[in-house]
Amino acid sequence: MYTQALNQQDGVATQATPASEDAGAVARFEARVAAEDKIEPNDWMPAAYRRTLVRQISQHAHSEIIGMQPEGNWITRAPSLRRKAALLAKVQDEGGHGLYLYAAAETLGVSREELYAQLLSGKAKYSSIFNYPTLTWADIGAIGWLVDGAAIMNQIPLCRTSYGPYARAMIRVCKEESFHQRQGYEIMLTLSRGTAEQKAMAQDALDRWWWPSLMMFGPPDGESQHSDQSMRWKIKRFTNDDLRQQFVDATVPQGHHLGLTFPDPELRFDAEGGHWRFGAIDWAEFKAVLAGNGPCNRQRLKTRRNAHESGAWVREAALAHAAKRRARAAQPARAAE
Ligand SMILES: [Fe+2]
Ligand SMILES: [Fe+2]
Repeated sequence: MYTQALNQQDGVATQATPASEDAGAVARFEARVAAEDKIEPNDWMPAAYRRTLVRQISQHAHSEIIGMQPEGNWITRAPSLRRKAALLAKVQDEGGHGLYLYAAAETLGVSREELYAQLLSGKAKYSSIFNYPTLTWADIGAIGWLVDGAAIMNQIPLCRTSYGPYARAMIRVCKEESFHQRQGYEIMLTLSRGTAEQKAMAQDALDRWWWPSLMMFGPPDGESQHSDQSMRWKIKRFTNDDLRQQFVDATVPQGHHLGLTFPDPELRFDAEGGHWRFGAIDWAEFKAVLAGNGPCNRQRLKTRRNAHESGAWVREAALAHAAKRRARAAQPARAAE
């Protein structure tokens, strides 16, 4: 798999950056996208389409992998066996999502090693939300409910994204995300119906995770660098602001059902428009966290680097095992000669 990806990359390096792209080929590509045809790895595609996808899919993969840390932090402290089993399964699912997505990115001719190197050096971005700390058990509820809830809003439309391998990976990912969201909401429900102290924990978690969850949809449409072209190429199917509004509309009634309040004095239902209107998002905070200055950025990368280094022997052992199997498979053929 790995060597194959490297070879593909060699082929792609020349193919992906032509001096000028043939207008006819671009027009044929755009007509296919407009007709809802899926673009597959061996199909011709504009270099910018390939670059955008590599960036988006790899950022998505990194987010899944880094996203294992805030919740992994609570596996040993889950309050019951049932909660521990569910959380363990959820964190493992996130690792699996990372793997599908790295595999999807590899089909575009980039190697997994290259993508890891970009993450570990701090060059690649991942979702800003995972740089916030998980202070209490209620944070596990709030993350499942809000963070996975926001991920679902983002990812359901990606099941129809124009690039085939990405769209197919998303179908399975989304099924698992709904379980993540429900387990989180169930934790919030249990805490909100519990003692006054438990309800206060749930409220505190909502207060801390609400605004960072809204930031997960990315900058407002007017400032989003890549939005227009991504919409035209059907890499994105809705704008950041549209998805954010959908999330708020779905989530506010759920919070009220819990008997909790949102940390936004401007939140109100606009009966005419049929939407929950919310206050201004602190984009300065978003930019600071994205630039590496959130509460946990350094810790997250350090943990990831340590895991990568201490897992080196597993990768080496797997490669050695694969080489032995290949050698063994070749032997009977030689004996028969
Ligand atoms: Fe995920
Ligand atoms: Fe998830």
